[in-house]
Amino acid sequence: MIYLDNAATSWPKPREVMKAMIGALEHAGGNPGRSGHRLSIAAARVIYDTREGIAGLFGCADPLRVVFTGNATHALNLALRGILKPGDRVVAGSMEHNASMRPLRCLEKQGVIVNLAECDADGSLDAGSLGAAITPDTKLVVLNHASNVTGTLLPIAELAAIAHRAGALVLVDAAQTAGALPIDIQAMGIDLLAFAGHKELLGPMGIGGLIIAESVDASRMEPLIRGGTGSRSESEEQPEDLPDRFESGTPNLAGIAGLGAGLRWLKERGIEETRAHMKKISSRLIDGLSTLPGLNIYGTLDPERSMAVISFTVSGKRVSEIGFRLDEEFGIMSRVGLHCAPMAHRTIGSFPEGTVRFAPGVFTTDRDIQKALKAVIRIVRS
Ligand code: ALA
Repeated sequence: MIYLDNAATSWPKPREVMKAMIGALEHAGGNPGRSGHRLSIAAARVIYDTREGIAGLFGCADPLRVVFTGNATHALNLALRGILKPGDRVVAGSMEHNASMRPLRCLEKQGVIVNLAECDADGSLDAGSLGAAITPDTKLVVLNHASNVTGTLLPIAELAAIAHRAGALVLVDAAQTAGALPIDIQAMGIDLLAFAGHKELLGPMGIGGLIIAESVDASRMEPLIRGGTGSRSESEEQPEDLPDRFESGTPNLAGIAGLGAGLRWLKERGIEETRAHMKKISSRLIDGLSTLPGLNIYGTLDPERSMAVISFTVSGKRVSEIGFRLDEEFGIMSRVGLHCAPMAHRTIGSFPEGTVRFAPGVFTTDRDIQKALKAVIRIVRS
């Protein structure tokens, strides 16, 4: 079995992740921040440790500005719905995932003005194109750090500087990059960072988060939901304190514990080392696929400017057939179609059929890549 669907969710997870989840439920299974007994305190410690780990990883000085959510989509909705009001203007890149586009299209119906910055056919976005889309009244710029379709990385620091010059905040969707390459919100000028816990951070599904930098006045952001936080229980109003303002209800303790273990695993291995491994694997895949007749690879084809996410089509063959055969005949797991990102596929010219996507992960070996290439060759020639 060869798993090349890590852009959807990473698999396998390090054993330490599963152990930490069971350990938290067994030894720290109280409701964090609610009761005062030892199990409740132990749970709160697990959560705070992970919050601190996430803050440290992304250069956020205050761990309380890390808000846990169910996933990156939830975090993006929180940021978009929390910040944008009718009449506000927002700019988004044209490689955005539906996690941003669906809430934006809904907000548009409520009076928010949505402008798109056109990306190139390889998924990249240059400073000029973003600058042209931003107007002086733009409140927010939404950028996908790396596309889930082509892996194309955007030069966030450079683009954020343009947004800031116009007085806009910058929201970055780091679903595909968090844990896979160094991200420093201060150095890169990121005001809001949405991350998924279950992809490159190697945690389980059901956990993600939003980091709200000091540059954002969180008291003016609307929460998505309101309710019990374990704090200021005398009041029927939502507290302003972070992270409580945005974290009502009992949190996903096991998920947060697993995410914490994923972080520790990555730290031990080194994010730079992980990135180097992924670039090597990516080069092998691109080199191997590029030699095949009738095969079209999308994106920059440059591992330095991309994540290890490789999308391709084969002329005369349906992507659904290729995906099915890879799985059935060769035990290779890929994701085909539109990857919940129709606008990205329109931008790269693969709409409406979509592409076959190979997304290797930290555990993918050279041997896996050789086998995947052989399988594609067999399918192309058949
Ligand atoms: N957004 C995830 C993907 O690209 C689920 O597959």
